[in-house]
Amino acid sequence: MAGRELKALFRAYREGDELAFRRAAQEIVEEEEAKNHVALARDLRALLAGGGARSAVAPGVTLPEPPKDREGEWPLAQVRHAERGLDDLVLDGALVERLRTLAEEYRRWEEIDRRGIPRRQRILFHGPPGCGKTSAAEAVATEVGLPLVVVRIDAVVSSYLGETASNLHRIFDFVGQGSWVLLFDEFDALGKARDDPTEHGEVKRVITAFLQMLDAFRGPSLLIAATNHEHLLDPALWRRFDDVLEFPRATVHQSRKLLRSRLRAVKHQRLDIDASASRLKGKPHAAVEKVAWDAIRFAVLADRDVVQQSDLDRAINDALARPW
Ligand SMILES: Nc1ncnc2c1ncn2[C@@H]1O[C@H](COP(=O)(O)OP(=O)(O)O)[C@@H](O)[C@H]1O
Ligand SMILES: [Mg+2]
Repeated sequence: MAGRELKALFRAYREGDELAFRRAAQEIVEEEEAKNHVALARDLRALLAGGGARSAVAPGVTLPEPPKDREGEWPLAQVRHAERGLDDLVLDGALVERLRTLAEEYRRWEEIDRRGIPRRQRILFHGPPGCGKTSAAEAVATEVGLPLVVVRIDAVVSSYLGETASNLHRIFDFVGQGSWVLLFDEFDALGKARDDPTEHGEVKRVITAFLQMLDAFRGPSLLIAATNHEHLLDPALWRRFDDVLEFPRATVHQSRKLLRSRLRAVKHQRLDIDASASRLKGKPHAAVEKVAWDAIRFAVLADRDVVQQSDLDRAINDALARPW
C-alpha cells in the first residue's frame, strides 16, 4: 500500500473531507485489486460501501461542496446523507426485493465484474408522483451506505446556449471523484429549454450529451434517474438504463399498511382502517400518508389526544377533493 495514499487518507480524516477520503480509499482498493489481493479488496470495498449498515457515512462528516454553474452562483446539486431506509416505505414486495437486490449487487460488483457481465449501474424509476421514487432512491443510498447527490435540474437547465450540457459535465466530473448515489430526480425536465421553447436544436444537444454521459458512466457510483412523465422520454433513453423499475399507485392493501404504520405512534379509537383504505383506492402513497398526518392534526386541533374515525373521514374527504 503506497505511503502517498495512506497519507491522503489520514489527511482527509483529519480535515473531515469525505470526498478526499473516498478518493484515497478508492485508490487503495484499486491498487490491492491490481495486486490480485482479491479478498482484501472485496472486504475493503464492502467496508467502504457500508456492508449493509444503515449509514456508512457518519452524519457528522462534512460532505463536499457540489459544483456550481458558470457564474458560480447556483449549486448544481445537493449532497446529503441519506436517512430513510427501505423499511420506512410501503411498496410491493417484489419491488422491495428488486431494490434490495440492487443494493446487494452493488456491494458485490467486483464478483460481477470478474465474471465479465455488465453491472446494473444506471437505473430508471418511473411512475406517477407521490409513489416513492425519490424516497426509494434515498433508501437505496442508505442500503449501500453512500451519500446522495441530488441533481438540481432547475439549476442545470440554463438559458445560455451550450451551458446545460456544460453543467451536466460539471456534475459527472464531480461524481467521478467519489462514490455516491447520483439522483437525477424528475430528469425529464432536462428536455425543456428554459426560455425559448422553440429552441429544439439545444434540447437535442442536451439529450445527446446526457445520453453520452450516461453511456460513459462507470466507477463506484450508482445512477438513478426518476420521472413522472415516462411518455415524454426519448425512446433512445430507455435502453440506456441497465434496469427500469415501475412505482405504481398504492394498492388498497398498501394503503391499509401505510395508514396503520403512520397512526401507530398515536392513540386512536375504533378506526375502520379497511374502509378508509378502500376509499383511498387509486391514490398515491403520498396522499395516504397525508391522510394519516391530517387526521392526527385534526385531533390535536380539537384538543383530543385520541384520533377518531371522524378525523380520518375528514382527512380522506380533503384528500379526495384535491388533485394528486
Ligand atoms: N411507497 C411509499 N411508502 C411510504 N411513504 C411514501 C411512499 N411513497 C411516497 N411516500 C411518501 O410521500 C412523500 C413523497 O413521495 P416521493 O418519494 O417524493 O414520491 P415520488 O418521487 O414518486 O413523487 C414521501 O416523502 C413519503 O413520505
Ligand atoms: Mg420525486
